[in-house]
Amino acid sequence: MRSFLHVLTRVLGIGGLALAAAGCSSSPAILAGESTAARSIGDLFTLLFWMSVVIFIVTEGVLLYAILRFRRRQADEIPTQVHGNSALEVAWTLAPALIVVFIFVLTVRTMYAVGEAPPGSGGINVNVTGHQWWWEFQYPDLGIVTADELYVPAGTTVNLSLNSTDVIHSFWFPQLNGKTDAIPGRTNTAWIRADRPGTYVGQCAEFCGTQHANMRMFVVAVSPSDFDVWVARMKTPAATPPEGDAARGKQVFEGAACIGCHTVQGTKGVGKLGPNLTHIGSHKSLAAGTLDLTPDNLTRWLRDPQAVKPGTLMPKVDLADADRNALVAYLLSLK
Ligand code: CUA
Repeated sequence: MRSFLHVLTRVLGIGGLALAAAGCSSSPAILAGESTAARSIGDLFTLLFWMSVVIFIVTEGVLLYAILRFRRRQADEIPTQVHGNSALEVAWTLAPALIVVFIFVLTVRTMYAVGEAPPGSGGINVNVTGHQWWWEFQYPDLGIVTADELYVPAGTTVNLSLNSTDVIHSFWFPQLNGKTDAIPGRTNTAWIRADRPGTYVGQCAEFCGTQHANMRMFVVAVSPSDFDVWVARMKTPAATPPEGDAARGKQVFEGAACIGCHTVQGTKGVGKLGPNLTHIGSHKSLAAGTLDLTPDNLTRWLRDPQAVKPGTLMPKVDLADADRNALVAYLLSLK
């Protein structure tokens, strides 16, 4: 049943929001819940879907029956003249009202079930900031800032504070919980908890400009011990080899406009407008899930960001090919 619904939602495009984007990762799977909250939402959706199927079949069946049974058989036939049927009218008013009340009760129950994190599952805090068109993740207690790929320990509650620097975005990991808006000047809270290690696909779910569809993100849930290893690595700047392309790329980075917008810890780059690139080399994607992070894609992106992601705030920086190649080597060395 689930797989049928899954296919259906994909065909209808509900789950395939970002399928067109470079095919770098699969689209969000909306009915394959990997947390108690997502399963509650999925169960409600599944129940409502099948209720709708039954109602559709019954109403269309009655309609077809009436069309066939009471069709005009002769040209001069006059149907029996009736003036209302109180019992029938009360029934078809009451039945939908009861169905709506039933749906309302189930919906409110689900909203309460997913609104608050269950107690006693530990917790880390992450401040999420929506930008046109990427996501910033700050771990205030750990002193880590990263973008688009949210590392979390599996089985642990992650408390989220959501905000935006420009327009309204919506944070959505359908396998982990419902949507929460990220609104400028207002802090919303939400939580996620992945039951198992894995990579989950998220998508901005509020139209926010030309690259809304390419405002994707990932939750990478790892075991608590792997998370500690990740934290330790993130807290120290990546070491750049003292020689070779990467070393030259560092000079290019510090000498170009890059540092006006991007931070790489331990360098002159302290800009805050764009994603923090301190450990960009360890990411799997580029430009908020638009591309896989590969040398070719990074070169393409740096050569002309507008061609890859029209409207992006990342400007085109003119660099000689050799300098750009060195810069790519440097960025990819930042593990
Ligand atoms: Cu951000 Cu849509």
